[in-house]
Amino acid sequence: MTFRELLLQLVFPWMLMSISLYYGLVTVVKLLLALDLATLTSWDKFNEAWFGNFWVYMGPVSKEGAEAWVRPLLEGRVRQGDICQTVQHPVEGTVLEIGAGSGMWMDVLAQVTASSGKATKVYGVEPNPISAAALRRKVDELGMQGRYEVLPYGIEDLQAKADMQPGSVDCIVTVQCLCSIPEPDKNIRLLYEYLKPGGRWYVYEHVKAEEGLLVPAYQRFSNFFWTFFMGSCSMCRSTRSSILSVGSWRAVDLERRVDEGPLSVIPHTMGTLQKA
Ligand SMILES: C[S@@+](CC[C@H](N)C(=O)[O-])C[C@H]1O[C@@H](n2cnc3c(N)ncnc32)[C@H](O)[C@@H]1O
Repeated sequence: MTFRELLLQLVFPWMLMSISLYYGLVTVVKLLLALDLATLTSWDKFNEAWFGNFWVYMGPVSKEGAEAWVRPLLEGRVRQGDICQTVQHPVEGTVLEIGAGSGMWMDVLAQVTASSGKATKVYGVEPNPISAAALRRKVDELGMQGRYEVLPYGIEDLQAKADMQPGSVDCIVTVQCLCSIPEPDKNIRLLYEYLKPGGRWYVYEHVKAEEGLLVPAYQRFSNFFWTFFMGSCSMCRSTRSSILSVGSWRAVDLERRVDEGPLSVIPHTMGTLQKA
């Protein structure tokens, strides 16, 4: 890693927080103009509106950085944190896209599932009202009616509000969202239970830095501010071990992204797991 690349690693979280701060101010102005005092005076509601507005801008930027990895992942072309040419098990069947945001992966899911040749229905699970509204617009824009259904709830409400049954899902897709869900261990367990035996989970998540002393310490320090600026997101989740320990798996291929070294401040784990 060159000095310039290292500097970029260190500055990157702060660049994102600065952009988020700008969208915080935009959100205050929007709410004042709409005289929406109920949202302005509730931290939870304001935070939700802030992140929703931020992600309308940030979603496409984040997609640009991640698509080179997420597309092959959904196509079934990722092994050991790297991309390969042989296709094995693309996303298909009944699919839960968790934390679908503003629908950044809907076009990729549409292309991948169309080429699999199997009947597919994707449920986009997204509790943020601004993001869920953007997700619905995306369904219309891409003509995905009947193939993509928006569920405007959190994971924790899927059974009660959407009548989602345990053991009913072929594939789960989580792209940069397990960093943001509440009670990660409990909700990851709920997701595991929704998978059918033999069902597959496609993961692309940023995780806790754990190699050496300096980078983890710097990540923990940045995270102190990050959790204020980035909605419910945390930089320091041990998502890989949370998923591995949730139940038994027939096959696990969940590794660090091969191009990211120990100096990465926002490292990713990626790959697929198949439920036993
Ligand atoms: C960083 S955004 C990523 C969005 C999208 N996956 C993408 O890559 O553009 C994380 C998303 O997780 C969602 N989220 C937060 N809590 C959740 C919950 N309990 N259940 C499902 N999604 C949740 C947030 O609303 C947000 O849209």
